[in-house]
Amino acid sequence: MNVERRGQKYFIETYGCQMNESDTERIGGQLEELGYAPADDLQDADIVILNTCSIRQNAEEKVYGKIGEVKKLKERNPKVLLGIAGCMAQENKNKLIQRMPVIDFVIGPYHIHDLKDIISRHDAVGSHVVMAELNSQRVQDYSELRAVRKSKIFAWVPIMQGCNKYCTYCIVPYVRGKETSRTIPDVYGEVKRLAEEGYKEITLLGQNVNSYGLDFRDGTNFGELIRSLDDIEGIERIRYMSSHPRDMTFDMVDAMAESSKVVRHMHLPVQHGSNAMLRRMNRGYTIEHFKELLAYVREKMPDTVITTDLITGFPGETEEMHKETLQLLEDLRFDSAYTFIYSPRRGTPAARMEDQIDDATKHRRLQEIMDVENDISLACNQQMVGKTYMVIVEGPTKQTEDNWFGRTSGNKMIIFPKEKNIAIGDTICVKVDTAQTWILKGQMVE
Ligand code: SAH
Ligand code: SF4
Ligand code: F3S
Repeated sequence: MNVERRGQKYFIETYGCQMNESDTERIGGQLEELGYAPADDLQDADIVILNTCSIRQNAEEKVYGKIGEVKKLKERNPKVLLGIAGCMAQENKNKLIQRMPVIDFVIGPYHIHDLKDIISRHDAVGSHVVMAELNSQRVQDYSELRAVRKSKIFAWVPIMQGCNKYCTYCIVPYVRGKETSRTIPDVYGEVKRLAEEGYKEITLLGQNVNSYGLDFRDGTNFGELIRSLDDIEGIERIRYMSSHPRDMTFDMVDAMAESSKVVRHMHLPVQHGSNAMLRRMNRGYTIEHFKELLAYVREKMPDTVITTDLITGFPGETEEMHKETLQLLEDLRFDSAYTFIYSPRRGTPAARMEDQIDDATKHRRLQEIMDVENDISLACNQQMVGKTYMVIVEGPTKQTEDNWFGRTSGNKMIIFPKEKNIAIGDTICVKVDTAQTWILKGQMVE
């Protein structure tokens, strides 16, 4: 391979979930090994990579808009390379280039380690290159790639790829392949290295961390992983994203509760308040089971911040079913709920269901859910007023250098005036004095 790009710059734009953000760090690692340096702005880049997401229609539309912007850049400087990575790359493969010849190469999520090869092939043949096979054998190669991490304190650690759940609305299993886990020693090794480099907080990533290790069929599971990471000195917090009620066991909750590092935040998507909808979505649990799990989490880890995802306007959703979601919010009092309007995805069973909901109804229901949940989120935050929390400092706010912010173990963001010498990554105590729906404000205390 004979590629050398010293003096040239790269720009990566990331869409979608944390898994994509983590992939971007490894794509950056590959590019830097070729000699590319990061560009601050797309306009200064010699290579642009859009790391894309297909989860909803509006995620795809943003990418098409950006491709238009790069097209203009290439009109001025035809040497600029444009690569499409991520889930749209996997979904559309050759079709993307046929439709938009401005794209130089397409690289699926299982080909990040082939990036240098793709660029050298593009150099050699001067035409489009597409690599997008779902080859889960390559998860191990991926693990070994260097990541150019944005932060020196917080790090993503993917523990698995893919998803086998086939929720009827979701594109992920088609674009990320089947669940394939990294081994415990492999994950442990990465976390240990991160600790040695000074990282304090890691986030274990998977579409469904609760099915971690099940693909080995030897008893490996998420609880065992959590228990094994507990002795790594230097790591203060272990986060994880996302949990799935179907595979979560009471033993996993025990493992988290026993751990000295696992945070008191759980993102546990419920998706809907109606059992009939959950069945149609193929979620594999009932509301009753979800409530039982949540009660156990709250019993074992009483201050856990619980957040969730909801989909509104799924095919066949009646007014009654929608009201069941509103009632569930009142009953379970999530700290926040990310609510999405159902977006039909090509090739998924729900897109073919007949009783699709019209846009006006979807938007009204979204608003009703947000109205209920915003009051609950505010009430949850108000309960924090007057209490003191350990916060890992993330830095100044965008608005002013005088105000800094950090997050609690429960992942709540607190803004506070910077009073004395603190640095990014310090663990400090902050007493909350003001609560809003999305953020909290407070003062540093000794
Ligand atoms: N693996 C995670 C979710 C990943 S996608 C889980 O199962 O919990 C993040 C969220 O996007 C989902 O929880 C769901 O609420 C939403 N989502 C996925 N597909 C969607 C679609 N077609 N339309 C609207 N929202 C969708
Ligand atoms: Fe999609 Fe369901 Fe898998 Fe989550 S569990 S990624 S929603 S198929
Ligand atoms: Fe989007 Fe792919 Fe993540 S579809 S949400 S980037 S796994």
